[in-house]
Amino acid sequence: MVPSSVTEASLHQLGAEQLRGALANFLPKGATAAEQTHAIEAALRSPAGQAMRDTMARWIVDEIVPVERLVPPAYVKWRPPVRDAMMFVVARLSPARLAPKLLEQLELPPNTSAEARLLRLIAKVPGLQKLGQVIARNQHLRPALRDALARLENGIRDVRPEDIGVIIRQELGPRIEKYAVKIAPAILSEASVSAVVRFTWRDPESGTRKRGVFKVLKPHIPEYFAEDMDYLQGLAQYFSDQQHNYGFPAKLLPDTFTKVRRLLRHEVNFIREQKTLREAWNLYQSMSGVHVPRLIQPLCTSKITALTEERGVKVTNAAARLPAVRRKKVAEQLIEALVAVPLLAAQEDAIFHGDPHAGNLLYNNRTGELTIIDWALRERLSRDQRRHLALLFLMVTLRDPVGTCNEVLALSQQHIRSSSPRGQMVSELVTRFLDELPVVRLPSGVDAMRLLERLAMKGVKFPGPLIMLSKVMFTLDGILGDIGGSDSGMGFTIARHVAQHWIKNRKEFRSPLMTRDWITLQCSALLYTGRLWLQCEQAILDRLLPAASPAPVAPR
Ligand SMILES: Nc1ncnc2c1ncn2[C@@H]1O[C@H](COP(=O)(O)OP(=O)(O)O)[C@@H](O)[C@H]1O
Ligand SMILES: [Mg+2]
Repeated sequence: MVPSSVTEASLHQLGAEQLRGALANFLPKGATAAEQTHAIEAALRSPAGQAMRDTMARWIVDEIVPVERLVPPAYVKWRPPVRDAMMFVVARLSPARLAPKLLEQLELPPNTSAEARLLRLIAKVPGLQKLGQVIARNQHLRPALRDALARLENGIRDVRPEDIGVIIRQELGPRIEKYAVKIAPAILSEASVSAVVRFTWRDPESGTRKRGVFKVLKPHIPEYFAEDMDYLQGLAQYFSDQQHNYGFPAKLLPDTFTKVRRLLRHEVNFIREQKTLREAWNLYQSMSGVHVPRLIQPLCTSKITALTEERGVKVTNAAARLPAVRRKKVAEQLIEALVAVPLLAAQEDAIFHGDPHAGNLLYNNRTGELTIIDWALRERLSRDQRRHLALLFLMVTLRDPVGTCNEVLALSQQHIRSSSPRGQMVSELVTRFLDELPVVRLPSGVDAMRLLERLAMKGVKFPGPLIMLSKVMFTLDGILGDIGGSDSGMGFTIARHVAQHWIKNRKEFRSPLMTRDWITLQCSALLYTGRLWLQCEQAILDRLLPAASPAPVAPR
């Protein structure tokens, strides 16, 4: 199919524009789109295919969606890895997926914007869509860039409502009639792996019509998934080998691709998410003001998840319309729901939400209710781990170096003796870390996590779920910053909950904290002098003798 004159060597020499011309010329004239796609696909499979891909890749990153346009000057450091990642994927995508994209780019009107072209390029490529989403939610990005990336995220249009309707009807068969399911004609939301549509159904138990949403696995996902996981793995490996060339912290780039892979792997596993939703519903059932959507079991399959429809908008948007006092309340609700509740749950293994970005937190300003959705990513911590973690939060809040050190060692996966050289190193690092904490504010859970991160960099190993929890807390901290309610203090809120919970549960002994812990805590607090101690005493004692009045705000 490839013209004989276009050999591998000559392809490499062609400029991007010339290649575009050559390609346009060699496409069969007057052929249908399918025939043209087929011709490109055959060329991609031919011996000159790889050279053709490389040149096409350059054409894409230099002209179609120039990296200079995509990545603003403030992020100039990001241009090389973005460029290389794009080239990497174009060099590897299967001919059947790449060929129609190349033809489409050739045929788009020349004045098509880079953004629109990029959206077309990543259409039905869940790995890249998810990557954009993960970067867009990075709290360290400037708002302007985050907004631009968020627009990409909202621009995913891989499926039509009809396609989704077909899948639902196929999956449910006779249940459609049995439950009188009526599917809404529009898509509510579309992301890389799934699309969400509203529906109503008749609940046989109550005989009434109820509202729900279906989360539906998009039809191309089963076919494309393995390939996307492969090139993401390749990218993680590539950036781990080449890290010294990019000037980023060693693990930053490979970790990003690993995170994307983990998200995708769990997002396609609908059965697992359904199980998690049931568990999460039970965990939050008794907590007022916090909701988890309820599974509509008879309408779930391995490709569709049916849930109660919840009211509310993205928590950051909701909070922006509230006065400061209520924003503080929202902040507290978030910390309680996402950290304190799982931390203090009575179960042996408690789950926590592994991806609580603002889009997964719906807030209803009218009722003050928070709904936590999207449970695809979750982790578990054992009672013992949570007990040490709760104590770590408290010890860091109290700035107690010995207590902090003990909890760190207990949480580590290795058996480090405090008298060993490594134990000494940990102890020195902890002491220095606590000394360097600003004195003007109470240390928070995020400080505790930062400490773990620092220790991890020195080779101390912590269990995976703990690392995930630390990421959750950084995400949460970012949201609290956006809401402007972070002054209520994560450390304070967690400390309060630990104390309160312990008091409530000490008879039953179901709390992960033991009497011994409480004595440790008291001793630690007694040694804690000065102004800071007063603050902390207030924080804890207020809760030990809870008044009916609302919680006082942590002193600053
Ligand atoms: N139970 C629900 N009630 C109302 N809207 C929902 C519900 N579940 C999901 N949605 C809407 O669909 C979007 C996507 O759902 P989500 O579970 O976060 O999946 P993903 O982010 O993986 O696409 C949400 O941001 C929300 O707008
Ligand atoms: Mg989501």
